[in-house]
Amino acid sequence: MNNLLARLKSLDLPEREAAPKISGHLVRVVGITLEARGLQVAVGERCSIETAQGPMYAEVVGFAGDIIYLMPTEQLQGVMPGARVTPCADLNQIPFGEQLLGRVIDGLGTPLDGLGPLGTLQAVKWTAQRINPMVRTPIRQPLDVGVRAINGLLTIGQGQRMGLFAGSGVGKSVLLGMMTRGTTADIVVVGLIGERGREVKEFIDDILGPEGRARAVVVAAPADASPLMRLKGCETTLQIAEYFRDQGRNVLLLMDSLTRYAMAQREIALAVGEPPATKGYPPSVFSKLPALVERAGNGSAQQGSITAIFTVLVEGDDLQDPIADSARAILDGHIVLSRQLADAGHYPAIDVEKSISRVMPAVVSPEQLVMARTIRQCLATYNQNQELISIGAYQKGSDPRIDQAIMIKPQIDEYTQQGMQEVVPYQQSLAGLRQLSLSLLQDAQQKMAALQQTGGQMPAAAPGQAPAAARPAVKMSFKKKN
Ligand SMILES: Nc1ncnc2c1ncn2[C@@H]1O[C@H](COP(=O)(O)OP(=O)(O)O)[C@@H](O)[C@H]1O
Ligand SMILES: [Mg+2]
Repeated sequence: MNNLLARLKSLDLPEREAAPKISGHLVRVVGITLEARGLQVAVGERCSIETAQGPMYAEVVGFAGDIIYLMPTEQLQGVMPGARVTPCADLNQIPFGEQLLGRVIDGLGTPLDGLGPLGTLQAVKWTAQRINPMVRTPIRQPLDVGVRAINGLLTIGQGQRMGLFAGSGVGKSVLLGMMTRGTTADIVVVGLIGERGREVKEFIDDILGPEGRARAVVVAAPADASPLMRLKGCETTLQIAEYFRDQGRNVLLLMDSLTRYAMAQREIALAVGEPPATKGYPPSVFSKLPALVERAGNGSAQQGSITAIFTVLVEGDDLQDPIADSARAILDGHIVLSRQLADAGHYPAIDVEKSISRVMPAVVSPEQLVMARTIRQCLATYNQNQELISIGAYQKGSDPRIDQAIMIKPQIDEYTQQGMQEVVPYQQSLAGLRQLSLSLLQDAQQKMAALQQTGGQMPAAAPGQAPAAARPAVKMSFKKKN
């Protein structure tokens, strides 16, 4: 008897019999929203719907009274009035683990690369624990991303969350690919959300290449995927990054794009009847964005880190775009890509002046900080006076700061440009920055020497002009170009 009891105990039976699944039926289909009655399900549960072509899967996204709103995770086809809706187990669970490296999957963990199943017999249900903000390790170390302009002037810290703000076609994907290949992070998780299908393939084959793919996991939910799949794509991307972070790895997460995530959430929220608020975006979008972004960052001392770069689409310098606005507030810095630079063939088209890494002072040496600041100042001075300089209205010698900016500008341009296949490690980026500072120093020394030779007099002005010191300073009230 005792033996039997012991054996029963060791069986580890479920505490309570699971409630029987009650099926319901479809009553209405509007757009991509399905409405069912008679079901007892919770929001987020998965259901199967009987169709002529076999079962179709959908997820509960809301309810009103006894009406359950569902959204399909696949193409909506073949649904009929009164079709049976049955709650079912979440079959597509991602087998988290090393076997994900080098693979391309969709938001539900289905491989898209034709390389066969993901290799585990048992799917692991795994959800990351929310990290108490007090136990998160502070951001103290730089992360090498292999891009000179970023390493040197906009250093990203391990565990930082950056925004990459740009319009279409200015080099976001190429820059993300360069970082995937050039970073020293242990693992790169890439989320391609809402891109055109062709772009997904191009990114994986051409931009990432076999070398970039080897330690990367790509989650793709192209534009033709249902909004729910796009949302799930984002969440799966973060979940995979969280998994590797909890294994103690340093992860670089690249999400292209946060705007499409917000758009997918908008589609779903509007479809289930949430009222739109700012520019058609319902309030839930603005609470989901920070919730998603907060999942990246450093873990506790035993965990690794997730350094994240979220791309944000900005069309035509629309600073009023609510998503760009909201993203800027919740991220620890932003890299702005400029169409003007891209049009001029300056790649990566990073607008250093408009970009900022808010954690840079905490992760770089005081020397690098001073050098980077000086270069930024030179760039700002040049850009503020660009119109004067380009029409030849600026008189050399009237302002030493402008002279210095004009002298160093070509070298800065050379420093900030980088070929698609080129990888520039952190130390090399720093050496380049030192070189720039040295040029500035030499220039200043030469000027000092010239001044000493003339006995402390300013160099003579061009004939017919008053000496520089006596001339009124050029008024610098030019508006910055865009
Ligand atoms: N570092 C680079 N060097 C040379 N050309 C580049 C570089 N980055 C981007 N480009 C050019 O810009 C084009 C658009 O880049 P892409 O990354 O696809 O833009 P986006 O993702 O922003 O739409 C590329 O096809 C390429 O010709
Ligand atoms: Mg792109």
